[in-house]
Amino acid sequence: MSIVDDRRTSNELADLVEAAVSRRALFKGGLATAVGTLFLGGRGSLLGAIPATAEHPTTSPLLGFTSIAASTADAVVVPPEYDHQVLYRWGDPVNGSGPKFKPDASNSAEEQAQQAGMGHDGMYFFPLPPKKGVERGLLVMNHEFAESFLLFADGEPSSTLERVRKSQNAHGISVIEVERAGSQWSVVPSRYSRRITANTPMTITGPAAGHALMQTGADPSGTSVLGTINNCAAGQTPWGTYLTCEENFNGYFGAPSGTPVPADQVPYGVTTGGNGMGWWQQDSRFNFANEPNEPNRFGWVVEINPFASESAPVKRTALGRAKHENACVTEAIDGAAVVYTGDDERGQFVYKYVSARPWREMAADGVSPLDEGTLYVARFDDDATSGDGKGVGEWLPLVHGSGPLVGATFPDQGAVLVRTRQAAAALGATKMDRPEWITADGSGDAYITMTNNSQRGSSSQPVDEANPRGPNPWGHIIHWTEDGGDHGALTFTWDLFVLAGDPSNPTHGATPGIDPFGSPDGLALDDNGRLWIQTDGSQPVSCNNQMLVADPSTGDVRRFLVGPKGCEITGIDFTPDHRNAFVNIQHPGENGTASNPRAQSNWPDFDAKGRPRDATIVVRRKDGGVIGT
Ligand code: FEO
Ligand code: CA
Ligand code: CA
Repeated sequence: MSIVDDRRTSNELADLVEAAVSRRALFKGGLATAVGTLFLGGRGSLLGAIPATAEHPTTSPLLGFTSIAASTADAVVVPPEYDHQVLYRWGDPVNGSGPKFKPDASNSAEEQAQQAGMGHDGMYFFPLPPKKGVERGLLVMNHEFAESFLLFADGEPSSTLERVRKSQNAHGISVIEVERAGSQWSVVPSRYSRRITANTPMTITGPAAGHALMQTGADPSGTSVLGTINNCAAGQTPWGTYLTCEENFNGYFGAPSGTPVPADQVPYGVTTGGNGMGWWQQDSRFNFANEPNEPNRFGWVVEINPFASESAPVKRTALGRAKHENACVTEAIDGAAVVYTGDDERGQFVYKYVSARPWREMAADGVSPLDEGTLYVARFDDDATSGDGKGVGEWLPLVHGSGPLVGATFPDQGAVLVRTRQAAAALGATKMDRPEWITADGSGDAYITMTNNSQRGSSSQPVDEANPRGPNPWGHIIHWTEDGGDHGALTFTWDLFVLAGDPSNPTHGATPGIDPFGSPDGLALDDNGRLWIQTDGSQPVSCNNQMLVADPSTGDVRRFLVGPKGCEITGIDFTPDHRNAFVNIQHPGENGTASNPRAQSNWPDFDAKGRPRDATIVVRRKDGGVIGT
């Protein structure tokens, strides 16, 4: 069956490809070349004129490495002039010493709390000394999810509280100290190292703190909560803290069959059955029949000070409640802190938070820049030219009392924030193709991955200029520029940076000349202007999930790394000299089973009696040079 939906004709797809061609031509050769190309024999020959093979040559000055072929090996593959090492696997002691990983899955819940969690995801490097260290630093990373078939020898998740505690302790965050000797990194004992789990005490601040919707039997004040869950991607603030984002929190909640799902939880996908991990049957606060407000205390961006190991993490409610992907922190021209976040679900929205005052001023006054500010949601509009993959946009404030944000559903700002999805929908925000990571530079430009959307093209999510393929199995990346180059601006212009897929397959409507990829998810601009793209999901050619690099100025996209079987690639950061890249390999072998955990992958240990393990790897050039050059 063709993936091209009849709601999007092949002519319209060709228009999109043509727009992408002209964009690349403009980048590469200026307007005259673009016009010349477009007039060179019509649409058919135009498509044929663009190299349609993978691993194409490029003249991009940013992409100096040897791009690699697609791979289905159970291995991490990097360019021949690069090496990689495995640094921190699920089950490795968080403090460099401590309970050892048992490959038969017999570690206790207590041991798991002192070891790396599972589901390595978003991650940042905090150099020591700050801003400068290239041989030592703290690595802070999320553990998004725990696979029961790997965590327990029999794969059965829900039968005892001890099992649930082990699963909860495999979630959360690791703070580890890492050190380099020559080209090799290791985890070392540290006064900073700690695990944060689904049971770590944390505080709640911002407009929703203390709200009636945040109160539970265990916390009548609505200001403290145990734990953070489904920590997807992350952020790093200029004041030296780590932001961890709660994504699919809904799945951990459940209730006996027939229990009505509270109206507030329906838009967030809470169901009686939950995600099958069995938490709600053993740990009553996850049973929404007991605690209907407990789900309101998840779905937030949580701030962690990695340099204060006794400090409680803080849920910052001013940033809204969603299935947050990452939290991209940058600065407005006036010095306000700006945080972009996407809400990863089909038809959900893109958000931006702007602090009330310059963040340095707020910090000097002892006020968190993440507690007082305005949350906005994006509307992506077409501009004067339809079908050109470009448009304009506006940030709509989620402020109680403005427009539809009044009445019984939105009686105050706390309710607006607990009901962020409902508020954004009421404002007429644009339904997007699963907004994932956002990355921004310092001059008003930003990029966001739209990973895919099987429902695009349906009556509730018709194609639009910013989500132009229905259905959209391969995803795309949108670029936007805030007006005046100011991340604090309330209007912007946008364009389709790349349409993923295989350019050699005309039914994909992919941007010509790119190395084929699908399901873009992780996304990061490095300090040298390279745009790193990490995938999680179906690929349009036979290839495991991968990491590619784009040159924003030419539109070139080239494959840099391919992961082992069944994994996703997510999380990336660099030492300040960009000579060491930390990358996470999540859920290798995800299609294994309890009876055969090695059915798909046995990376990275290849232990005949062990199991595949999530791991942080370090990538370096063999000559120690800057990554990507
Ligand atoms: Fe945790 Fe949407 O990826
Ligand atoms: Ca347009
Ligand atoms: Ca993701």
